[in-house]
Amino acid sequence: MAQDPEPDIQTAAAALRAGGLVILPTETVYGLAADAANPRAVAAVYEAKGRPSFNPLIAHVADAGTARRIARFDERAERLAQAFWPGPLTLVLPVADTAAVCDLARAGLDTVAVRAPAHPLARRLLAALGGPVVAPSANRSGRPSPTTFADALEETGAAAAAALDGGACAVGLESTVVALLDEARLLRPGAVTRGEIEALIGPLAEAEADARRSPGRLARHYAPKAPVRLEAEAPAPGEAFLAFGPGAEGEGVWNLSPTSDLREAAANLFAYLREADRTSPAGIAVAPIPLAGLGEAINDRLKRAAGFVG
Ligand code: TXA
Ligand code: MG
Repeated sequence: MAQDPEPDIQTAAAALRAGGLVILPTETVYGLAADAANPRAVAAVYEAKGRPSFNPLIAHVADAGTARRIARFDERAERLAQAFWPGPLTLVLPVADTAAVCDLARAGLDTVAVRAPAHPLARRLLAALGGPVVAPSANRSGRPSPTTFADALEETGAAAAAALDGGACAVGLESTVVALLDEARLLRPGAVTRGEIEALIGPLAEAEADARRSPGRLARHYAPKAPVRLEAEAPAPGEAFLAFGPGAEGEGVWNLSPTSDLREAAANLFAYLREADRTSPAGIAVAPIPLAGLGEAINDRLKRAAGFVG
């Protein structure tokens, strides 16, 4: 029988109230959480990640009601929140309460990113706390996001006052980020697909090339230590191989999904990149992954891991 997590939730809530950091499981990836209203706690998150301070953080909330107090919702935001929250969708909106999500958390912008995560432990912690919690992925800046408790502890556990073990992350890729400022823009593809969003609010504009407006779109990001080679039919000597589809197995091979299932591949991607990287290969070759649906987000992360996105 699973242990009652309530005492851990209370410990984690107390740590956040005291300005400490918490390793937080979500359905996408593990986060490194801090009280969004506390600039010193937020500064400690940037420091633990080694993150450039111009890259703003996502405010995680228990529900749309809390989100509406900190951000200005329009009709499009209402529709998307109604359809996909709690879940792996982040909305960038004009900020309404600059104290609840402090300037440092927003990197000084007059906008704020909000998301209501679906993981039951995250929901309980957010409900216990009442206010928004910033939580970037718990990796050190530029490294793959952690999708298991052990990987999260290895990356930034040393900086955390408490940690919640929520098991392996079901989605495995960071949330979809949509900006609803003027035109609706897809800033980061994710598990909620472009098609699902466009069905509700119409066509999405492309993210701007200007990295200051879409700061998550840095070229080399999510990167393992070994060089990553994409669209590989087979590994070269010394390379590890991330395969996709039936037939590929054996020494040095990690098959993202033997049944060619994109959801399974997304859930395995970061954990397998890490496992392959730990064997210190000459490189990591990755099989072609289809672009449709969730494939857009998987290919986006792979291009960043390979350092190809400018
Ligand atoms: O799935 C997720 O979103 C995970 C889990 C822990 O919730 N969190 C996550 O956070 O991926 P992080 O900090 O690694 O990525 C946040 C992304 C970055 O690309 C950042 O630039 C963008 O959201 N972002 C945050 N606030 C923004 C804003 N006001 N305007 C534009 N982009 C923003
Ligand atoms: Mg991240």
